[in-house]
Order: sequence, then structure tokens, then C-alpha cells
Amino acid sequence: MKFKRFRDRRIDEKTREKYRETFLNKSDFIWPVFLVDGKNIKQEIKSMPDVFHFSSDIFIREVEQLVKSGLKSILLFGIPENKGIEQAFSENGIVQKAIPKIKKEFPELEIITDVCLCSFTENGHCHIGDNDKTCKLLAKIAVSHAKAGTDIVAPSDMMDGRVYYIKEALTKMKSPSPPLRKGDCHPQIMSYAAKFASNYYGPFRDAADCAPKSGDRKSYQMDYANVNEAMEEIAADIDEGADSVIIKPALAYLDIISKARAMFSCPIVAYNVSGEYKMLKTAVKNGDAKEEIIYESLLGIKRAGADRIISYFTPEILNVME
Ligand code: PBG
Ligand code: ZN
Repeated sequence: MKFKRFRDRRIDEKTREKYRETFLNKSDFIWPVFLVDGKNIKQEIKSMPDVFHFSSDIFIREVEQLVKSGLKSILLFGIPENKGIEQAFSENGIVQKAIPKIKKEFPELEIITDVCLCSFTENGHCHIGDNDKTCKLLAKIAVSHAKAGTDIVAPSDMMDGRVYYIKEALTKMKSPSPPLRKGDCHPQIMSYAAKFASNYYGPFRDAADCAPKSGDRKSYQMDYANVNEAMEEIAADIDEGADSVIIKPALAYLDIISKARAMFSCPIVAYNVSGEYKMLKTAVKNGDAKEEIIYESLLGIKRAGADRIISYFTPEILNVME
């Protein structure tokens, strides 16, 4: 025999399945959710087709079906009506009020909460000017989420040392487990360890009303040319106490995911961001690509080495996987 007959393995779906190396599971997916104050609100976000602003009452009603379809985890963003950083750590904040309500209805649903300032600051930046002072504020936000009963806090600001500050503050809490939190454990930290200053965040900034009023985020988010530095960022966050790390964006950064997988043993989460979502979504809506392109792209993220995927496609992918 002069050559190998690979096509024998591809002859039909049953055979292909036996040779398949990577699978997507429902439990891989984390659904990002935008919560707003008020009642009875379900408003499609202009920049993101099929993604909505929800008030917590409607969200709880809508998420039930998804939980039944296998949704295991959500990532909450609170979008306040008016700016002001106190709301970020107030017990009356949008996220702080929503957590216990969601936990009560769906005790098994994992709640991850975004920890950042950019939806709350007037200038739309993720910091208040000073790195270390910002870290202290972020720790305060994390503690307020912990008190409300979040399972995991996810700092997305890219300040130096914020995982250290947050871990300290969470560890010092006397009673980290309000009645609705399971067990006697502290919330974990899922840090945006390698978050690049990307052009793929545009639609999200509309959704979260957090576009910087002036300048950009290049002085704190990573230079997108850097892979070794990404490994340093991840190592630093793990060292400071991160339980899992996020790489963001995902699709243009599969090399980062793959390298991180080879170098670190902690869970790696990839954030399939708003711009990536919109490009694929629009291509499918316009008929330029088959719907399966979504599954293919998400599987690519898994194949690169991600353990979990944060994606706006979560609701539709759960349905496809039915
Ligand atoms: C802000 C934040 C951003 C995203 C998550 N948190 C945008 C930014 O850094 O400007 C992007 C998510 C997405 O595009 O889906 N801390
Ligand atoms: Zn931010």
C-alpha cells in the first residue's frame, strides 16, 4: 500500500463519530446576561440581534426554559440607568438584588458576576485613575456580590493586582455564605487574565453603555500582538489566587488558548465576544453562511483547548444540542 485511505473514516456520520476527537457539551457554556433596573423589561439590544436587556423578573421567567434545556451557568452584567460608582457595590445594586432572586428559583444554576467599573463611571473607563485605589474598589464590588450569594466573581478591568486584592477581601469575609449559597465556601475568582485591547468589543459597549468617552483601553488591556505576555498575565493571576482564567476574545486568539492550555493546569475559559457573535450572526441572517458555522466556530474554541466558553450563542446552541 502506497498511501493511507483517510476517506474510509469519513464515509458516513456514524463512522465519523467514532473518529471524532472534540465534542461540545451543554455544560461547557456560560451565558452572558445584561440586567437592567425596573420591571417587565425585555428589550432587544440594537447592536446585538437576539440579545436582550432584561429586568430580573422577566429574566427569571425566560431562563426557566433554558435551565430545562441544560443551561448550567450565567454571567451577569448590571447596567444602571444613571452613572455613579457607588451603585457598583451597593446592596441595592442591580446585580446584588438579582442574585438571591435567581438563586431562589434556580439553586443549581451557577451565577458568575462581572466585576468592573466601566458601566458606572462617567468617562466609561474601567478604573478611577489610580491602579491600586481601583483594586480596592473592585474588591468592595466583589464582596458585595459575595454577600448577595454569587458563586464566582469575574474581574474584567485588567488592573494589576486586582485578583490579589479581591482574594484577600473575600478570604477575610466572616460569613461568606448567605443562606442561599451552598456550603461554607468563599466565592471563586474567574479572572479575565488575558484580555486584549480588541476591536471586537464594539457591540458590547453599546449593550453595557460602557464605551470610553475619550481615549481607548490600550493602557490597561493587552496589546493584541503579545502571546508571551499573555502567559505572564495568566501566571500572575493564578499566583494571586484565580481559580480559573479567561482569555478574551476567543476566535482571533485561538493560539493564546492553545498555548495557555499547554502551560497551565487550571480551567481555561474563552470569551466568544460580542463582535465575534455579531459577525457570525449577521452572516447567517444574511444567508451568507449556513447556521452550522456557529457550531463549527464554537467547537474550534474547544478544540484549541478551552474548558468552557462564554457565548451569546448559548441559548441557540443549547437548542441545537437538544
Ligand atoms: C468591560 C467589558 C467589556 C467586555 C466585557 N467586559 C468591554 C471592554 O472591555 O471594553 C466585552 C465583552 C464582549 O464584547 O462581549 N470591562
Ligand atoms: Zn470595564
